[in-house]
Amino acid sequence: HVVDKGNHRHFMVKEVHEQPEVVGHTVAHYLDLVNGSAKVPAGIDFAAIDRLSITACGTAFYAGFVAKYWFERYARLPVDIDIASEFRYREQPLSKDGLSIVISQSGETADTLASLRYAKGEGQKIAAIVNVRESTIAREADFVLPTLAGPEIGVASTKAFTAQLSVLAATAVAAGKARGVLSGDEEHALVRALSEVPRLMHEALKLEDQIEALARDLAKVKHCLYLGRGTSYPIALEGALKLKEISYIHAEGYAAGELKHGPIALIDEDMPVVVIAPFDHIFEKTVSNMQEVAARGGRIILITDRKGAEAAAMDTMATIILPEMPASVTALVYTIPVQLLAYHTAVFMGTDVDQPRNLAKSVTVE
Ligand code: G6P
Repeated sequence: HVVDKGNHRHFMVKEVHEQPEVVGHTVAHYLDLVNGSAKVPAGIDFAAIDRLSITACGTAFYAGFVAKYWFERYARLPVDIDIASEFRYREQPLSKDGLSIVISQSGETADTLASLRYAKGEGQKIAAIVNVRESTIAREADFVLPTLAGPEIGVASTKAFTAQLSVLAATAVAAGKARGVLSGDEEHALVRALSEVPRLMHEALKLEDQIEALARDLAKVKHCLYLGRGTSYPIALEGALKLKEISYIHAEGYAAGELKHGPIALIDEDMPVVVIAPFDHIFEKTVSNMQEVAARGGRIILITDRKGAEAAAMDTMATIILPEMPASVTALVYTIPVQLLAYHTAVFMGTDVDQPRNLAKSVTVE
């Protein structure tokens, strides 16, 4: 059937608003909500695996980057995360006891497909996380883990990204259980947290008016920096990618701890710094990076929760306050404000949001 924009001005913002539903469907598919457990995707024996390689491009790569933190923490499984265009030519040795995960919305990205074939050639089994089930990558993989995002039309990926995160989070919990790392209680708590994500996303979407007002100011700048630690680091990278893709404002994402090794030289009042910092075990570290920014006249857009806002106690350009939630799911929910910020900034800039210049939805050439 034909997909239309409904009441929305662009496909992108429609797809942003579909996320509570799409993530709800996807987590329900990978979790057993009655028993509070995560299902191991059929055929994958996580107890027998000693290493994971995750390979993808663009936004899908950042989903894999978040998952590295999850698999390492919840399943004690070391993860190599790689951009497909690098992975395919590096000729790295791959362990036969390792598993490769490739992530692709379209299932047709040329570099990701080539990486899949390389890993296969090294004797590895391949799990593919794809949104298009009848795709080349799905066909050539040993295990197919679908995202239930429905067709994504906006070139800038949104709901496919959070659906990828949903599959990866559920699978990391399943791996943690299979490997004897997580107790039953820990598994239940992580599953419960994932089942709450759609509700938390609804809450995050209610901040749209505040974010739109902020975007009016952001549309005036030439450069913007995004900072985060832990799983908020890949979300900072994704936030910067979204902004540059659709608003054409130069944006960079950095691990907050790397600020002092270079980007701090750029800080002035003309370059806002978006700080993604839920009140978690590394919050205090990020606050000290914010203070370094503030001390140099930098303007901060802080995305946090009530406890974080109180603990930071700083003058900011804006503070966006999300509900409190377990650290295991912040990556999923904090994605919403960074998507909305990029979207509304692009609308103020007057760009072609759904079809940004020079970009394609699916890149089937090298
Ligand atoms: C293109 C799109 C991006 C996407 C990337 C990977 O560059 O513009 O939005 O993240 O390809 O696409 P895939 O279909 O493999 O997820």
